[in-house]
Amino acid sequence: MKIKSKTLFLIALVLFIPELVLNADTYLKAYEKKHFQYNRYLFKNSYLYKKKGRYFYKYKKIKKGYYKSSKRITRKYKHNFLFIPAHRGWIKEVYTSASPKGSFGSVLPIGKERIDKWYALPNNYIPKDLITLSRRYCRIRRIKVRQEAGYAFMRMSDYAGKKGIHLYGFSGYRSFYTQRYLFLRRIRIGKGIKQEAVAKPGHSEHQLGTAIDVVGKKRRFAAQSSFGKTTAGKWLRKNCYKFGFVLSYGQDNKVPSGYMIEPWHIRYIGLSKIKAWMKKHIY
Ligand code: DAL
Ligand code: ZN
Repeated sequence: MKIKSKTLFLIALVLFIPELVLNADTYLKAYEKKHFQYNRYLFKNSYLYKKKGRYFYKYKKIKKGYYKSSKRITRKYKHNFLFIPAHRGWIKEVYTSASPKGSFGSVLPIGKERIDKWYALPNNYIPKDLITLSRRYCRIRRIKVRQEAGYAFMRMSDYAGKKGIHLYGFSGYRSFYTQRYLFLRRIRIGKGIKQEAVAKPGHSEHQLGTAIDVVGKKRRFAAQSSFGKTTAGKWLRKNCYKFGFVLSYGQDNKVPSGYMIEPWHIRYIGLSKIKAWMKKHIY
């Protein structure tokens, strides 16, 4: 009986190993296809490292059952670097996937989350209390935000609506991987990796689930500086604070964020924290 189970185990192992390798590859390919336009270059959780002057490429365990592997960068693996036309050169793929290790729990305390150009969230941080806003409060696409932020936004939008000002969200919660896609798309044009429009994955307030990009009735002002000059934009700048929102990259901010001025990007921090935030951030 003992021998039998040993043999069975060995047979299973021999059958299982190629399965694991195959599975990992298929999984990665399917994942890339689903999430990325430039899929050839990207692997989830992958990174490059240097050892004795040579580059190695490693994908980490993604789920139980997927394998760890590292390979020397040869011509064959050159595609693990990203070619950025605007940057006129190659950057290491690792540039787009650095994120702190460990879990931040299921939700972070609203208004106290630290996130900026220098401090990131881990790729696995997804707030657990996301809700989808109804069509009434959205333009372009329906957005997800954390419950408290969502209710505050609805209250603000309803209040503004009574005054004839229409506010809709067109981008709310964005996962680490959505942000990575946007970042990679952005650095291919204009100033390349020096761009100031899109945060690196892990560094976006949108991953917190408390940031909302706002537009008025005319969707052509979505994510445009000119939004700041519209009635909706002006109203938002003056009134969002009354509802617990701040303009993270507003024109009145004195603390440099490293990003361009975005009159459409608000972040919910809660009414109790507004006063302190304004004291620190506004002239
Ligand atoms: N547009 C802001 C900076 C973001 O990508 O989060
Ligand atoms: Zn935004």
